[in-house]
Amino acid sequence: MRVAIITSGGDAPGMNAAIRAVVRYAHSAGLETIGVRDGYRGLLEGKTTGLKPRSVANILHLGGTILGTTRCPEFMTDQGVAKAADAIVRENIEGLVVIGGDGSFAGASRLYKNCGIPIIGIPATIDNDVYGTETTIGFETAVDTAVEAIDRIRDTALSHERIFVVEVMGRDRGFVAVDVGLASGAGIILIPEVSLDLDQVCRKLQKYREMGKKTTIAVVAEGVGNSSEIVDYIQRHTKYEVRLSKLGYILRGGSPTARSRILASMFGVHAVERLLDGARKEIVAIRRGEVVSADLESAWRREKPINKKLLQMADILAK
Ligand code: ADP
Ligand code: F6P
Repeated sequence: MRVAIITSGGDAPGMNAAIRAVVRYAHSAGLETIGVRDGYRGLLEGKTTGLKPRSVANILHLGGTILGTTRCPEFMTDQGVAKAADAIVRENIEGLVVIGGDGSFAGASRLYKNCGIPIIGIPATIDNDVYGTETTIGFETAVDTAVEAIDRIRDTALSHERIFVVEVMGRDRGFVAVDVGLASGAGIILIPEVSLDLDQVCRKLQKYREMGKKTTIAVVAEGVGNSSEIVDYIQRHTKYEVRLSKLGYILRGGSPTARSRILASMFGVHAVERLLDGARKEIVAIRRGEVVSADLESAWRREKPINKKLLQMADILAK
């Protein structure tokens, strides 16, 4: 079997570890592997490259993706998907491993309907917003990076007795913000899944000061909206000095943590095993520490629930 590997959507630390695992495990099982360059755009242009075990040497520790990735609007059209299906036939691709997030899996579902070759998804996005898996490649690294940054911000926050609003990525979901908030001792965590009440935020900040807290870190998910407006509001309605720090793309880059590498390795191996088992369309997933298969359609159609208990916990522990 000739298996193609593609990375798509936002890059995530650990994508390279997944590419390496798929290539090397596939070769150990006698399969051939090729890489598709630049996500779905490269697929519809037929941009492929040979991938052998030695081509993926020394990439385990690298962030980003050696194959390149894109957001490809053309692939969202019927003509785009048909063009990609043609390229698959032309390149003799007999199985496809898609490493990406929920959008990439939506694309993979459409492609499957068009070309019918087996497609296995490997969840990789810092947003952790893929239904059916507890975590995604890159999420843990992004959270660690943000927590390290906030530990530094806390020095200034404490020295100047300032409130810091720290914005983190996560697209329209709050998974990153919740974990970062809990791990960095944030007194306030704002996520899109909970309606925003800025008066309540101001009251909380006031209460924290009365309790003797010199500073509060407020972690805000980018999906909540305009962080500068949140800062202005707090500044106008309290007597505290407030600063904004947007962590942005810092979260997406850098060397994957050991756990992200291990997860990527386990996901890559499982994806190849499922191709060998004759699986047609699914994603790999992790549940309670075990790597399992999950439904491809649900992965992007269904909304992954957020654990609001963690928010309550963070709230209690901040006092
Ligand atoms: P991620 O995979 O990280 O969630 P995106 O949402 O940007 O990233 O999706 C990656 C790519 O997948 C898009 O640029 C597009 O080419 C393709 N895609 C996303 N949604 C769909 C869809 N509904 N139908 C077909 N292709 C899609
Ligand atoms: O999906 C990963 C992510 O970094 C989101 O957290 C963020 O909203 C988005 O990508 C930014 O996408 P782009 O780099 O394409 O603007």
